Amino acid sequence: MEIEPLDPAAAGSSVLEGVHEVVSAADRLDKPGAPPVTFDAAIGRLENPQPNLGRALRWVARRDGRVAGLAALYFPDAENSHLGLLELTVHPEARRRRIGTAVLSAITPELRGRTVLECWNVTKGGAGVAFGTALGFEVVDETVFQTLSLVGADRCAWEVSPAAGYRLHTWHGSAPEELVTSYADARRAIADSPFGRSAYRFPRWTADRVRESEADRRRRGIDHRVVAVVHRGSGRVVGFTELQLYPHRRDLGYQGDTAVLAAHRGRGLGFCAKAAMLRLLLAERPDVEQVVTSTAAANPYMVNVNVALGYRTTRETVILAQDTEKLARRRAQRSVARGWWGS
Ligand SMILES: CC(C)(COP(=O)(O)OP(=O)(O)OC[C@H]1O[C@@H](n2cnc3c(N)ncnc32)[C@H](O)[C@@H]1OP(=O)(O)O)[C@@H](O)C(=O)NCCC(=O)NCCS
Repeated sequence: MEIEPLDPAAAGSSVLEGVHEVVSAADRLDKPGAPPVTFDAAIGRLENPQPNLGRALRWVARRDGRVAGLAALYFPDAENSHLGLLELTVHPEARRRRIGTAVLSAITPELRGRTVLECWNVTKGGAGVAFGTALGFEVVDETVFQTLSLVGADRCAWEVSPAAGYRLHTWHGSAPEELVTSYADARRAIADSPFGRSAYRFPRWTADRVRESEADRRRRGIDHRVVAVVHRGSGRVVGFTELQLYPHRRDLGYQGDTAVLAAHRGRGLGFCAKAAMLRLLLAERPDVEQVVTSTAAANPYMVNVNVALGYRTTRETVILAQDTEKLARRRAQRSVARGWWGS
């Protein structure tokens, strides 16, 4: 077996087709009910991953010349520069042959300077958890994935107005100058949401960071939409919801953060902002068929808000974590206890 770096922009078509085949076959098994992943969506996601994950390194594992596995390491920056994030997928037909173990062993040295390695979105009760547990990872948090089908959705629940004293303000791409500072303050309220024992730290948003993040999304062709809740008395943003649409996945909306500052909670403002976002989407992006979102399982309030909007729970996932020092020690034992990491 060969493990080689993958640069999606430079890779040949047979490698990219192999990558698509691994992603499609793994999704059919690990994410039942998820819409099939087209070639453009699978490769587009490699070239244009979720913002804020930082630099990415990618690899493919080939067995008898065919792509049998894929891995990516992300290196987030700022308050998360202690963290590495791993995505690792082995073709279902090639599993239990130590390919996952060998790939993890090969890429571990790249984690220099990072103290914790986490794998997000690992299907609860699936092969990823069994694999992670066998290799020393721990489950540190649980997440619920929910999906809303816009085709034929019951839209009655979306017809809500903000509570007295508040108004909604929506924008694409760039927050209005007069709202950007209070919007950054409202974004920080996301830090009140639970994240289990994950080592991830929520960003300390400032107006400058909002502008950097907007510029990054513009560069990547991401359609980023915000519905903000503005307190009429102060003129400040006190809550918001965001949604993004990627150029390689025009049929799917990714509902991102939603938060309301503590002093303004209990008035249905989060629900109202999310409902307005769905109305907007329907009116302006009729090509979007589904919206997906993930929420901490320990946040039943938001899970239930989503259910009231028409989302249904499609997948339960966990976050796995391990200290990189422990990971490196296990790797070093490989030469002593030959076979622990695979051949
Ligand atoms: C997780 C995944 C990458 C494992 O790849 P793999 O090549 O099959 O893993 P390995 O053969 O190296 O497994 C190493 C050990 O993990 C454990 N393990 C792996 N898959 C398992 C399963 N389905 N059930 C029970 N134990 C499992 C076993 O102890 C195994 O050693 P053994 O086969 O000698 O008993 C693969 O199942 C996958 O792509 N899953 C979907 C994506 C995912 O969940 N990724 C998260 C990775 S952190």
